[in-house]
Amino acid sequence: MSRLDSFLRRLTAQHVCLGACVRLVETVPGPVWELGLGSGRSYDHLCHLFPARDIQVFEHRVSEDAAGMVPPDQMIIGDMRETLANAAGRPGLAGAGPAVVHADIGSGNDIVDAELANFLGGMLPAVMAPGGVVAADRPLPGKLNPLPLPGGIAAGRYFLLSNPGLH
Ligand SMILES: C[S@@+](CC[C@H](N)C(=O)[O-])C[C@H]1O[C@@H](n2cnc3c(N)ncnc32)[C@H](O)[C@@H]1O
Repeated sequence: MSRLDSFLRRLTAQHVCLGACVRLVETVPGPVWELGLGSGRSYDHLCHLFPARDIQVFEHRVSEDAAGMVPPDQMIIGDMRETLANAAGRPGLAGAGPAVVHADIGSGNDIVDAELANFLGGMLPAVMAPGGVVAADRPLPGKLNPLPLPGGIAAGRYFLLSNPGLH
């Protein structure tokens, strides 16, 4: 498979999984958390998918391209290993835990990415809404339950997980 094929398949899987989240959290209140803004491509898509929900973004290096896309009160700048831990008590973010978390955290450094995935898998169940759903670019070890992938998406290309509660 060429790199272009691989890229297209990953983005297709991301697109399909984010779309699946809409139905999965129909009855789950709460905001959307975008973990890793990058170029803002998936953030922009989340805004289309979830027009009625707050979308809070956690990013440590906001790129020039994406700067300005996110309302300042919804942009949490810093290392998410610190900012996520404080998110529940932050003015404007207090209240319901997220119904949807999109974790597209890949940096190309397998060790760093695995450590962050371990951190997220450990902490997200404690802060998410019951029945909330995570779409992730990698497995998140811990208590989140893997969900079946939508049709046409091969195993391992993207990941859907639910917080125990409703699914
Ligand atoms: C693969 S990119 C996200 C791409 C994005 N989904 C898009 O569609 O443009 C991963 C992002 O996560 C951010 N990131 C990685 N580790 C982080 C950390 N510990 N804290 C905050 N942001 C982090 C990186 O700076 C990068 O912008």
